[in-house]
Amino acid sequence: MTNVLSKENLRNLVSSDIHEISNYLKSNEIKVCVIGIGRIGLPTALSFAHAGFQTIGVDINTELVKMVNSGNYPLKDEPGFDKIFDNVIRNKKISATTEIAEVIPKCNLIILSLPTPMDKNNVPNYSALNSVAKSLNKLLSKGSIVIVESTIEPGFVENELISIIEGNDRKLKAGEDFSIAACPETANPGQIFHDFTVVPRLVGAIDDKTAKIVSAIYKQVFGAEIIVLSDCKTANAAKLTANVFRDINIAFVNELAILFEHLGIDIMKVLETCDKKYNFETHYPGAGVGGPCLPVNSYQILNSARGMENNSLLRIIRAAREINESMPYHVVELLANALKEVGKSVKGSTITILGVTYKPDVKDIQLAPAEAIIRRLTQLQSTIKIYDPYYKSTDVFSHKTENTLIDAITNSDAAIIVTAHNEFRKIDPSLFASKMKTPVIVDARGIVDVHAAKKAGLIFRGIGRGGV
Ligand SMILES: NC(=O)c1ccc[n+]([C@@H]2O[C@H](COP(=O)([O-])OP(=O)(O)OC[C@H]3O[C@@H](n4cnc5c(N)ncnc54)[C@H](O)[C@@H]3O)[C@@H](O)[C@H]2O)c1
Repeated sequence: MTNVLSKENLRNLVSSDIHEISNYLKSNEIKVCVIGIGRIGLPTALSFAHAGFQTIGVDINTELVKMVNSGNYPLKDEPGFDKIFDNVIRNKKISATTEIAEVIPKCNLIILSLPTPMDKNNVPNYSALNSVAKSLNKLLSKGSIVIVESTIEPGFVENELISIIEGNDRKLKAGEDFSIAACPETANPGQIFHDFTVVPRLVGAIDDKTAKIVSAIYKQVFGAEIIVLSDCKTANAAKLTANVFRDINIAFVNELAILFEHLGIDIMKVLETCDKKYNFETHYPGAGVGGPCLPVNSYQILNSARGMENNSLLRIIRAAREINESMPYHVVELLANALKEVGKSVKGSTITILGVTYKPDVKDIQLAPAEAIIRRLTQLQSTIKIYDPYYKSTDVFSHKTENTLIDAITNSDAAIIVTAHNEFRKIDPSLFASKMKTPVIVDARGIVDVHAAKKAGLIFRGIGRGGV
């Protein structure tokens, strides 16, 4: 470890004077531990270290811990990450460890940035948070503040997490021996450092004093506007509402897209027009909604409503999930329709998948719609070739990926643009025409210039692109 924390000088934050917070910051009496240093936790830990706090990251991933300690920066797709990482590592302001028991007693600000995925039945899985909470029961220093940045259901802190940290014997008492706040993270992968400084931070806590302390610290670290909510559950509800709003609106345009294909209407023209109305918020149709946030967040809020009103609440979210999860199958239908035009079927054709990540220019395949498309094409006995600039010559979804775009499209019967990577936006349609066996292109992201595609002789299909 490059940065050894000592328990010396550790301030009891719960009994501290809120007016003295700026002094504690200056006198190094606040020591920060970020548990879970992945996509969100590591930039968070770096930001605290960069702001001058003694900071340590804890993770069960030994490779990741080694990378951080050896100065080998892991998040290569986050703009600005390299500079801030190099800076805090060089100045020995941060280190990482797998040994939670060694560091928790030496810190008084414990930030949880642990994964909150769902199981195969779409039920939220909070096991990482629960297991760390059990450790906190044994390890917390008196007067520590625990901050939950992970995305959770409203009420999870109040109804579950606090009692796990307190323990069955109530060895610790929330509000006296420790305190807790929820600051659900809202940054967008691919622009995390930018978002950290401009997107308002949500702060909810079990009491006003904790909310004030956490707000003062977050203001100092991130500089962004702080929005103080009345409690943890309201902060978590705000985070989920913003993301579920997007899931629902994407489902709306996905269904419209299918209708417009039947009606011979181009959805892009429609959306471009609606966008001119001041109160319209444009969302785009696509191959599906993936990633660790949007789909999971919809299931989290559905889980919150389980058993209420005869399970009839939030039907709109259930429908949105169903629609968005059906889009990969619609993409395969568009493909089958285009192949038919050149006398081929999906069975036996070689299909190129362009993009496997769930969003453009970010290296992350969690819940990516490409997986369902690949699974469906495999069932239909296609030969699959995959190219993604972030996953070259590796194994993804049980398939080996190609090293170059040219390798991927050469002699292919059809290509599907699943992710709108920048590299794909720049492709000249005549390249498809010159390399593919039959130039069938399905654009699931609305990035191909349809006129240029037609001029180059491509057989073109796009989601919602009726009448083009
Ligand atoms: N990635 C996003 O776009 C994003 C955006 C906003 C909020 N969030 C939320 O932030 C939280 C973290 O997400 P992420 O994307 O950073 O996840 P991630 O998988 O990238 O990182 C989580 C890290 O926690 C570690 N971990 C797992 N169990 C652990 C344990 N018991 N002890 C210590 N470390 C452990 C993992 O090894 C991993 O490095 C989630 O709740 C997520 O919903 C994510």
